[in-house]
Amino acid sequence: MDKILIRGNGALNGTIPISGAKNAALPLMIASLLTSEPLTLENMPRLADVEALKSILSNHGVDYRVMGKRPGDTDMTGQRIAFQASEIVDTTAPYDLVRKMRASFWVIGPLLARSGVARVSLPGGCAIGTRPIDLFIESLEALGAEFDIDAGYVNAKAPANGLKGARFRFPKVSVGATHVMLMAATLADGETVIENAAREPEVGDLANCLNAMGADISGIGSSTLTIRGVTSLHGANHEVLPDRIETGTFAACVAMAGGDVLLKNARTELLQVALDTLEKTGTSVAMTNEGLRVSRKSGEIQPVDFTTDPFPGFPTDLQAQYMALVTRASGVSHVKEMIFENRFMHVQELARLGANISIDGQTATVTGVERLSGAPVMATDLRASMSLVIAGLVADGETEVNRVYHLDRGFELLEEKLSAVGADIERVSGG
Ligand code: EPZ
Repeated sequence: MDKILIRGNGALNGTIPISGAKNAALPLMIASLLTSEPLTLENMPRLADVEALKSILSNHGVDYRVMGKRPGDTDMTGQRIAFQASEIVDTTAPYDLVRKMRASFWVIGPLLARSGVARVSLPGGCAIGTRPIDLFIESLEALGAEFDIDAGYVNAKAPANGLKGARFRFPKVSVGATHVMLMAATLADGETVIENAAREPEVGDLANCLNAMGADISGIGSSTLTIRGVTSLHGANHEVLPDRIETGTFAACVAMAGGDVLLKNARTELLQVALDTLEKTGTSVAMTNEGLRVSRKSGEIQPVDFTTDPFPGFPTDLQAQYMALVTRASGVSHVKEMIFENRFMHVQELARLGANISIDGQTATVTGVERLSGAPVMATDLRASMSLVIAGLVADGETEVNRVYHLDRGFELLEEKLSAVGADIERVSGG
């Protein structure tokens, strides 16, 4: 199994290009199930999760074609991939495919809308919490779908004359359930109003793409989405928005190691609260024509308190990385996790590097230390893995991050991007 070795190596300087967002790319790929025409996605990141979803979608009948490079494209330019579901050949998403990635459960929405039936394996447990599916079921039931669960599968059936538009209020904000209801409602008969919808930028990106495919969605960016159903969708060309979690992660790397880095193509409005939090630690952030410039020249890292919340709040997907940053702060920080009940798995591993963190329920209290020291550590989930890399950037000696397949799910060309700005990081292939 591959591992990543990092040796503390001083400040980071230069440019890191930001990739297309994984969490936008996945639902956009799934949206290709809604039409028989090609959906061409630009700025696609090369990630293990994208590869996994390609095979899941092929099973349903989606053909994909990676288009050639254009003049000026480099190895770090996002790919252009055309997805086409001329025909849905199978409405079952089997356990073997779904268990690898929770987002693959989301095919249930488009399959139900286009084919009237879907049989999708329950996604199963996950390292960051129980992550149930009640909100998916309730919202699709509102559109008239019927469900039964047998042998670990969710069987969904639309009424004989198709899904029907309805008003539905999510009792709790869910990114995935919003994506799914949005996709299903585009082909429902009549108007659907989704209240308390997730406002994450990736939901907006999906809605914009669906509109380009002929859907009629308004309220994009707000917590109330109105969808007037259409009889069919057509092909489109859509560019995946830049990854705000990758942006916030590399910004935390610079805040930790010091230096001055341009995060090319990043957009501040996608992660304003996280950037405000970063500024409180003594890091400068500035938007330029080319992207986001992050710098920390001298001085100590200041402690900061933050609480995760749905967008526009502080993203849970950056919690581990920012916690790593404040392990070296000159005081005590409090980190509260409000989205997932078990997203502190990195704490034990950070402690192996010398961090001083205690947990009480949903709150972690981090008392900054002067030194971290390299050690072998284990990645537990994809964002948690990055917290270990961030700590490794300033730890004395060598940090060895094991189980890096987690990182490959969500960070494109990680070692290449960090070495290009001066980090001493390498991947070692293991048996
Ligand atoms: C998305 O997951 C992201 N995944 C996650 O990123 C992210 O952490 C999460 O949103 C929150 O921002 C993708 O976009 C592919 P949710 P999702 O439904 O949609 C509860 C990463 O690292 N809930 O918004 O699965 C759930 O348990 C990943 O890239 C129910 O109770 O998250 C959680 O407490 C990890 N019932 C809360 O809602 C349901 O039916 C929010 O989860 C569904 C969810």
